[in-house]
Amino acid sequence: MAVSILYDYNNAMAEVVGARHGLTESMLRDLEPQALCVHENLESRREKGEIGFYALADYEERRTELDAIKAKGDEIAERFDDFVVLGIGGSALGPICVHRALNHIYYNLLGKEERGGRPRFFVLDNIDPDLLADFLDLIDPRRTCFNVISKSGETPETISQFMGFYDLVKEKVGDRVNEHFVVTTSESVNNSATGKKEPPPLRVAAERLGMDLFWIPENVGGRFSELSVVGLLPAAVTGIDIHSMIRGAQAAAKICGSPSLFENPAYLNGAIHFLAERYRGKRISVLMPYSEALREVADWYRQLWAESLGKRRCEPPNEVFVGQTPARALGTTDQHSQIQLYVEGPNDKIVTFVAVGEFDRTFKTGTGLNEYLLGLDYLAGREILDLFRAEMEGTEFSLSRSERPNVRITLGRVDAEHIGALLFFYMVQTAFTGGLYGINAFDQPGVEMGKRAAAALMGRLTDGDGEIRDEIEKYNSRRTRPPLKIV
Ligand code: PA5
Repeated sequence: MAVSILYDYNNAMAEVVGARHGLTESMLRDLEPQALCVHENLESRREKGEIGFYALADYEERRTELDAIKAKGDEIAERFDDFVVLGIGGSALGPICVHRALNHIYYNLLGKEERGGRPRFFVLDNIDPDLLADFLDLIDPRRTCFNVISKSGETPETISQFMGFYDLVKEKVGDRVNEHFVVTTSESVNNSATGKKEPPPLRVAAERLGMDLFWIPENVGGRFSELSVVGLLPAAVTGIDIHSMIRGAQAAAKICGSPSLFENPAYLNGAIHFLAERYRGKRISVLMPYSEALREVADWYRQLWAESLGKRRCEPPNEVFVGQTPARALGTTDQHSQIQLYVEGPNDKIVTFVAVGEFDRTFKTGTGLNEYLLGLDYLAGREILDLFRAEMEGTEFSLSRSERPNVRITLGRVDAEHIGALLFFYMVQTAFTGGLYGINAFDQPGVEMGKRAAAALMGRLTDGDGEIRDEIEKYNSRRTRPPLKIV
């Protein structure tokens, strides 16, 4: 089936949800000149090599690279029973999202044969000691491959995990330990103190130890990296068709490369979210797939939207404090959790429904309970998909009726091509929306202080850590009220 993703924005418009909360055609038309400037700026930064994720959709250019990644994935799958990603943020959410979307929903619970002989798949994107120690009860380090993914090559969570698992594997396999680790990192990074480029610590270690190494392109940031080796190697290990993922991204790139706001769905959805936030008070963007397979797309999107657009400064550097808060929901599960708030609470959200045209499997309701479940026979003897669809349409209707703007993205089906296309679409939308806000969508300065403070608290002794420790002490001295007992 050819790749097909449709974008429907009717329910974001005033004709459907009313003029107070909906947008008008003229608001979109008025934005056209600004949209064109943003497009031209993105194009020029892309040509200068400053923004690299667009090039990830160039299938022909990447064929040889994809063959090599696939071959490595197959080799890992041959040799190991378990495959574990050690990474966080943009180095974890993409692999989780693609695995969930394209592998069996209960993949790890299937037998190896049912998994096509492929290893079980895990992503450890936290450092909770219970998580890591419990995880060790599941695996045999002698049969496990770890993919350490870090663009900066020094993220403390990932590096600490690497340090922990390295020793544990070494204990079991001795000198063969290096064969159990594949490292994905940058060739070089900017040293913020000297301003010079240098190899990150993870690269240096991997090279000295003789581990397999894959490079993340320098101009591709973490949350924009799923279609690079960051996401493609983990996908290839479980047998996902990575060639199709990139072909899908390429198909989306053709349409989402159009300069015209009304012909480019990534730009249009970005513009609708931007206008809804700026002029209609929609401070929250909810992504609500009606698909278990797409559950984690909402989590991936949450990081992309939050970290890219949540910014204090615009260019030139004025304080703006912008960014919509992304929220995730799942149909129909969250109809019984969050929808009450969305329909009757503050009208401060724009909801994106993600629908699927064709599902892989079917499930039917029976008729044997008809005489017991009185008055519920409208549910009996039906494809459960009919109910799934009706629930989504019902929710769209009830939101629209309460003047709550919403849009719908429909994937023809959930396969590698559609997922590659969907992720690419969202990356373009995010880059474009960053341009509308006039902020840098590709950095994350707000993450830095927490990281530096944690390193200082861990006793690091580089420049400035002493000052940060003093500042933390001062801050703690203001916290004079003792905590109250809850029990
Ligand atoms: O999107 C980003 O840049 C971040 O979320 C990073 O992916 C995250 O902080 C992990 O960084 P790194 O890949 O350098 O370990």
